[in-house]
Amino acid sequence: MQGYFCGAPLVHFNLSLGGPACLSETVKKRDGDMAQKTEGEKESVRRVAVYPGSFDPITYGHIDIVERALEIFDKVILAIAHDISDGSKRSLFTVEERIELAKSVFEHSPNLIVDSFKGLLVDYVGRTNARVILRGLRATSDFEYEFHMASMNRSLNTHLDTLFMMTSKDYFFVSSRSIKEVAGLGGAVEGLVPSIVARRLKEKFNLPLTKENQIGWEY
Ligand code: PNS
Repeated sequence: MQGYFCGAPLVHFNLSLGGPACLSETVKKRDGDMAQKTEGEKESVRRVAVYPGSFDPITYGHIDIVERALEIFDKVILAIAHDISDGSKRSLFTVEERIELAKSVFEHSPNLIVDSFKGLLVDYVGRTNARVILRGLRATSDFEYEFHMASMNRSLNTHLDTLFMMTSKDYFFVSSRSIKEVAGLGGAVEGLVPSIVARRLKEKFNLPLTKENQIGWEY
């Protein structure tokens, strides 16, 4: 099976993470760094997770992951990636629109912070108190891409770990990409995305709003 990673076919991607000696050095360095921190600092480092993605647009699949993550972490930062400037990936919604949608969905969740980032994810996470990158896994088809991304991020910053949460069974088939395709072709996406997102999709695609779209702002 050939997948793609960071725009390149996986078959050309050769990642070396080093052997056990390299890993034990990593663990020693991390433990050394942790020993330097006060108890308070250790706590704050442990309990923050960054949940990165394009969120173009945010779906109930994403929301399900955030809600479950908030049961585990004190704070979750939903980090929305800017489009890469080379134009290889163009989002339907601007980053400002994606931020606005996410903020409106989570306006009653004080422990969820919506932010955006440009450039390398590990650099962004390094500027926060987090050492956990959170990603949702829908199916085995996600695994190869996610495994390579997690491995690359770990090779770039050995202090960070990626934690995966399985998407709930109700949303395992929901992706932002399929939502955009269905919505663009006039299909109903209500029930898979919050009503504000369904409404914004209709506006983007110049489709008529239903009664539900007009009244439903809460999710
Ligand atoms: O929702 P997505 O599109 O699957 O999210 C992918 C995302 C934004 C998390 C990933 O592309 C990313 O981290 N981009 C930032 C650039 C980066 O750090 N690249 C190195 C890992 S491939």
